[in-house]
Amino acid sequence: MIATPQGQSGTRSDGATRALPPLVGRGLEVPLANGELRRYVNLDYAATTPALEAARNAVLELLPFYSSVHRGSGFNSQATTQAYEAARQVVAQFVRARSSDTVIFVRNTTEALNLLARCLTLRPDHAVLTTAVEHHANLLPWRRMASVVHLEPPASPATLIAAVKRALEDRARPVGLVTITAASNVTGEVFPLREIGHLAHMHGALFAVDAAQLAAHRPIDMQALNIDFLALSGHKMYAPFGSGALVAPSAMLRNVEPMLAGGGAVDFVTLDDVQWTALPDRHEAGTPNVLGAVALAAAATELERTGFEHVIAHERRLLTYLETHFDDLPKTTRYTLWEGPSVDRLGIYTFGVSSLAHALVAAALSAEHAVGVRHGCFCAHPYITHLLGITFEQAHLIRERMRRGQHEGIPGAVRVSFGIGTSIDDIDRLVAGLRQLSEQGPRLTYACDPRTGDYAPVDDRRAMPVFDFLPRTEVSAAGAGCGQF
Ligand SMILES: Cc1ncc(COP(=O)(O)O)c(C=O)c1O
Repeated sequence: MIATPQGQSGTRSDGATRALPPLVGRGLEVPLANGELRRYVNLDYAATTPALEAARNAVLELLPFYSSVHRGSGFNSQATTQAYEAARQVVAQFVRARSSDTVIFVRNTTEALNLLARCLTLRPDHAVLTTAVEHHANLLPWRRMASVVHLEPPASPATLIAAVKRALEDRARPVGLVTITAASNVTGEVFPLREIGHLAHMHGALFAVDAAQLAAHRPIDMQALNIDFLALSGHKMYAPFGSGALVAPSAMLRNVEPMLAGGGAVDFVTLDDVQWTALPDRHEAGTPNVLGAVALAAAATELERTGFEHVIAHERRLLTYLETHFDDLPKTTRYTLWEGPSVDRLGIYTFGVSSLAHALVAAALSAEHAVGVRHGCFCAHPYITHLLGITFEQAHLIRERMRRGQHEGIPGAVRVSFGIGTSIDDIDRLVAGLRQLSEQGPRLTYACDPRTGDYAPVDDRRAMPVFDFLPRTEVSAAGAGCGQF
């Protein structure tokens, strides 16, 4: 028997015809700083999506059988192994992988890209080509294995394609790998993957795509898009059970020493040598996250069953609605990479409110309106400093301040992001909150914690929920922030 949260429904409250699949926790009420309850408005999907009921149900269905995977001889071990390997097939099909590809289950996109950087050997004179708008997960791993060329934030998709072409034609600096985000996690633009992949292949380079943002919002066809390597995270596609995937040609992974050394990745070990095993286990040392993999597969299946055309139509409608209403708000500035009606954009909207710190805007939306957003630099520091007009020298001064633990007043922005569980009502709540903030400022008094740069109401009556699985100590919302920058 599966409990259904209050107010949970597969249909939307905003009058659109197509029912989107239900999410766990819809209709949940949370306290404002004054103690009143309000329905929670989650506008932080780009960081982590809520769980699909289908993902949760898959985990609950498997749980009674849940047992050791791969090497157990018991019936439940075999059932667990079968579910885990079937999940691998589902993920391969979800991204239209080639039959010659392998899906490696990892924790998340960050691990997938680090694993790829560990597995790939480029020629010593070959560089990795990427852009300055990437998430850190697609910037930092490459620095460890090759020289990296960062393309400037491009002014349009055509400029990006032209810049990639120029870089690939530069014989003085041959490129072995082009690696690019499928969509910006800061401003939401969808990147022209097919064209970039085509160019990479024409010039003999490999093509890797960070699909962390795209996977839950657009169909991915690795073959049609000329993608060699793909990384994604389950917790950004409605399967928050700690699983992600690297999809890559088996030939590229087969003879490589694994990133993680340990049990499960070997055929035989002597005191002076090891025989690594075959794919995919070779790159999944240790006991894998079976429930996470199954949840990821269940979410992928549910998204396919829903039809991406309906997901896209829903999210585009919300974005247009948000854009129309945001334009009327005073003292707000939106940040984008590309603009215009032809730009394909996910439900991601990043902005600032003049004279209010980004951290204060986010804190007030939460404490006074029960609206959850994200603020800061979104793990894309080079891109956000570009958007905010921060010079290279200023960026280094900021780094120095951070090194000294001074987080107060660090530049950044506020990001709103949404998906299939979002309604027009949610956008209305956001816009009403922002109108109040931009016209009158916060209603409450806030204090900033200089160690994190986060704000909290001075008089905060919110208590964290009491979970049966935790010891009974009261933690206030004010004390709960950890401030990932
Ligand atoms: C574009 C992009 N790439 C990579 C990541 C890293 O994902 P994860 O934290 O799941 O490893 C994120 C997370 O926000 C992202 O938005």
